[in-house]
This record gives sequence, C-alpha cells and structure tokens, in this order.
Amino acid sequence: MNNEIILESQNLRKEFGALIAVAGVNVKVGKNTIHSVIGPNGAGKTTFFNLLSGTLPPTSGRVIFKGKDITNVPVHQTIHLGIGRSFQITNLFPNLTALENVRLACQSLGKDSFRFFQSHKQFRKYEERAMEVLEEVGLGKRALSPAKTLPHGDQRKLELAMILAPNPEVLLLDEPTAGMAAEQVPELIDLIKKVHASGNKTIILVEHNMNVVMSISDRITVMHLGEVLAEGSPTEIAANETVQKAYLGELYSEQ
Ligand SMILES: Nc1ncnc2c1ncn2[C@@H]1O[C@H](COP(=O)(O)OP(=O)(O)O)[C@@H](O)[C@H]1O
Ligand SMILES: [Mg+2]
Repeated sequence: MNNEIILESQNLRKEFGALIAVAGVNVKVGKNTIHSVIGPNGAGKTTFFNLLSGTLPPTSGRVIFKGKDITNVPVHQTIHLGIGRSFQITNLFPNLTALENVRLACQSLGKDSFRFFQSHKQFRKYEERAMEVLEEVGLGKRALSPAKTLPHGDQRKLELAMILAPNPEVLLLDEPTAGMAAEQVPELIDLIKKVHASGNKTIILVEHNMNVVMSISDRITVMHLGEVLAEGSPTEIAANETVQKAYLGELYSEQ
C-alpha cells in the first residue's frame, strides 16, 4: 500500500448551537484505500462526511484534498474536483427510471446543467455514460424500470451508480447497506470491493455491520461524541480495549 494521502481533515470542528457534533477531528485517508468510520449513533460520522464533502461548512479546521485546501468549497464544486458522496437517506427520484436518475447525476455535472436546450449530442453522451455505470453495478437490465419499482437492494445499487457517474476519485459512502435485508448485504459489499479494485478509487465508508467493516477496511477510525476514539487497522481496532468497552462489545452482541 502506498502512503500517499488523498484527503485529510485537520482539527475539523462543527457546532450546531451549543452541540459539538464534530470536535476537532484529524484523519488522514490514504489514496486507493478503503477507510471506514465507525461509532455509535450520534457520534458525528454523517456530520464529518458533510464537512469533508462541502455539504456543510465547518465551524473551524480544514479539509485538504490532494494537497489543496478545499475547506470552504461547496458540495456542487467538490463533485467536480473528484469527491462523490452518498446520503444516508435515499436520494432518488422515485418516478424516474434508473437510467434517468443516473443520467441526471451525469447531467448535473455538465457545465451546461442549467441550460434547458442541451444539444442532442450531449444528451446522448450522458445517456451512454449512465448506461455504462448501470451495467457496472449490475442494473443494466433494470435501466428502464422506475426507481420506485426496484427492490430496496437495487435502489442502493442505483445510488452507487449515481455517485459513480462522474467517475470520482474519492467516494464517501454513508451506510450504503442501511435498511437492506441481511442476505443482500454481501452482494453490495462485493460491488463496493469491485469498484475499489477497478482502480484509482478511495472509499470512505460509514458502516454499522462490523463483519463488513472488519473484512473490507484497510483502516478504521472510531468516532465517539464527535471525537476520534481510536484509529488503526481492523486487527488493531478489534483488539483495542477502549473501543471494546465504548462500542464494539455492545455492537457484536447485538448481531
Ligand atoms: N443539522 C443539524 N442540526 C443540529 N444538530 C445536528 C444536525 N446534524 C446532526 N446534528 C447532531 O449532531 C450529532 C451528530 O450527528 P450525526 O453526525 O448525524 O451522527 P452519526 O452519523 O454518527 O449518527 C447528533 O447529536 C445530531 O443530533
Ligand atoms: Mg449518520
């Protein structure tokens, strides 16, 4: 594994009024790694993702992407830089087809996204890219199905396709298996591994399923009450007593 850092948070902090959701977090994410962020509900994981992706501005601290300070770059621009993010809540247009959803994800990235009369050629280009990504996630045959008619597992794949559409270097995946039936989880995880293995992709993952986290991650950051409680390899985290006490023991026993 190389040691190049692609994304870094420096003393990143977010306050919501009196509540400190992210309390000065320092994390370095290695290029082409799968780096998971775990921690109990309310630990600040989603807020941390919102800060990394520019969805929310931090109260203080910095976000560095490929050596550049992107702290105050808003989310519609971080997408152009190569950072793609999912949302914990399903983010699809239910009445549009799978293909239309992905095409819109491509289109919103085009320079001409607010032009109503886009050229036919440009439209074809977006549609071809959308089809390519749908094939990649195994939804080629469902391209013309309205998103709302897809089983939940396929909807999560569709969301992944929408993130992949602009070919980002970094993917921020916030609980991609949330709400999925247990038997569907391995397929989505294999898909995430495949995306990672397809080259030059860094994946930052929030995931509750500890078996998934332990098997897929190169590195794990444990958050608790807005702070980093521990960081290390899966083996180190599994053996960390503080983590065991604060979090892991409880989680494993829930499964
Ligand atoms: N927009 C917001 N306004 C106020 N409080 C928020 C907001 N977003 C998150 N919080 C609070 O910040 C804390 C961290 O939340 P969150 O980042 O969603 O945690 P996690 O994803 O780890 O469950 C929680 O106490 C949550 O209620
Ligand atoms: Mg969350």
